[in-house]
Amino acid sequence: MAAARSLPIVDAGGAPRVHPGDGAAPGAPRPDLCEEDLPALLTEFYDRVGRDPALAPYFAALDMGAHIPRIADFWATILFHAGRYRGNAFAPHLEMPGLAPEYFARWLATFEATVDARHAGPAADQAKDAAHRIAYSMQLRLGLTPFAL
Ligand code: HEM
Repeated sequence: MAAARSLPIVDAGGAPRVHPGDGAAPGAPRPDLCEEDLPALLTEFYDRVGRDPALAPYFAALDMGAHIPRIADFWATILFHAGRYRGNAFAPHLEMPGLAPEYFARWLATFEATVDARHAGPAADQAKDAAHRIAYSMQLRLGLTPFAL
């Protein structure tokens, strides 16, 4: 039912919830992030990453059709306690040659810009804070001096 996707989502409180990616006017209030927003948010994030000449090569060979649901489960587990992610978020990053603090800074700036373009509120803030904390600890575990943003 393709038409249903363009309808505003109505929250329990009754307020119409228009998603920016689904045709909201520019400058319209942005809804807070919720679990069902994650696939669209992450699709936009990886589109942006794919246009960054420094980051794109790391993701070039990835099957996004498999990666995005996995990452959506990761974020749903961190932010909304969904409990569906059972992987090791750190391990794949050990195998990535040349991963330097500047790359984490670009990843974080892109993540923040994507969240800010679509969402505003406590869960959106929590997503950005968690990304910073995880990126910081990943860099320490990789033996890097974390980039301060
Ligand atoms: C420059 C920084 C980063 C780069 C280039 C990068 C790149 C990648 C790539 C290419 C994969 C796919 C690995 C594979 O399936 O073979 C991956 C997986 C993943 N990344 Fe990152 N990443 C970065 C930072 C981060 C950060 C900061 C987070 C968390 C906030 C994160 C969370 C994850 C997770 C959860 C997975 C999935 C692991 C799994 O398969 O279970 N990454 N990353």
